[in-house]
Amino acid sequence: MKNNRNQALIDKITQLKKERNAVILAHNYQLGEVQDIADFVGDSLDLSRKAAKTGAEVIVFCGVLFMAETASILCPEKIVLLPEINAGCSMADMITAQKLKEEKKKHLNPCVICYVNSSVEVKAESDICCTSANAIEIVKGLDGTREILFIPDQYLGHYVSTQLNRKMTLWPGYCPTHVRILPEDIIRLKAEHPQAKVMVHPECRPEVISLADEVQSTGGMCKFAKETEASEIIVGTELGIIHRLRKENPEKRLFTASEQAICPYMKLITLEKIVWSLEEMQFQVKIPAEIANKARKAVDKMLVAV
Ligand code: 13P
Ligand code: SF4
Repeated sequence: MKNNRNQALIDKITQLKKERNAVILAHNYQLGEVQDIADFVGDSLDLSRKAAKTGAEVIVFCGVLFMAETASILCPEKIVLLPEINAGCSMADMITAQKLKEEKKKHLNPCVICYVNSSVEVKAESDICCTSANAIEIVKGLDGTREILFIPDQYLGHYVSTQLNRKMTLWPGYCPTHVRILPEDIIRLKAEHPQAKVMVHPECRPEVISLADEVQSTGGMCKFAKETEASEIIVGTELGIIHRLRKENPEKRLFTASEQAICPYMKLITLEKIVWSLEEMQFQVKIPAEIANKARKAVDKMLVAV
């Protein structure tokens, strides 16, 4: 049951949304109450596609900065709002455009594949972007002779590389939230719930991935949870996804792999901040045209892949 305070905030958001001609996009890791007021909830790829297609004039991005930046690259004519400017991503901060330029010099014409969890400056220095939903397809489609430099997530890179048996140079970045999920967490839960299927995000450690039945983006996990005949699922990713999984699968038993898997950035966005954001039209995420044009080349290729 919604409390009166939340209901008042929800009413205000509905009114402001109409006045501003705004759409609210929320990532699967957002707080439950934020997911519930969003027009669309999804993974990074879903949200980029929604942003690219929306007819709204304003996009309120309930996620983290790199996601809002991607929306702004795709819709330069729209106003993209991030209700909390400190909603960053530790993994994205593990590489800079300068460091990438230096690394590129150490390789012979490498093809730089950039996980979408990266800054716009880094995307502008990359050949092609991917998300966890299409990284395998993107690498499959590349010229087999060219060296691949995969940035910044070593674990997603490692997963793709082993799935395709393709050697890649991996940047040593990682997600501090996903590395908190340990193989022993999965082993213990599997012993307690032997019938359960294990689904994990590819940002997890390889030792965790090797224990999983399914390795999926957050959107892929939602799909798998709906379609599987298993009635028990062990969930190896950020805990915000449980809200959506429970809502969509009330009859299934879901077990979180680790109570430590909380992304502090994803929790910064609240109903209050969304109201403020729509009232003040803040914080606007706007990318200078020159850098946006360079980054768009890599992002557009990400959208056409599966
Ligand atoms: P998805 O694209 O799978 O939603 O993942 C985004 C993310 O930041 C995972 O940590
Ligand atoms: Fe970044 Fe990890 Fe948070 Fe995803 S969960 S936004 S990779 S810090």
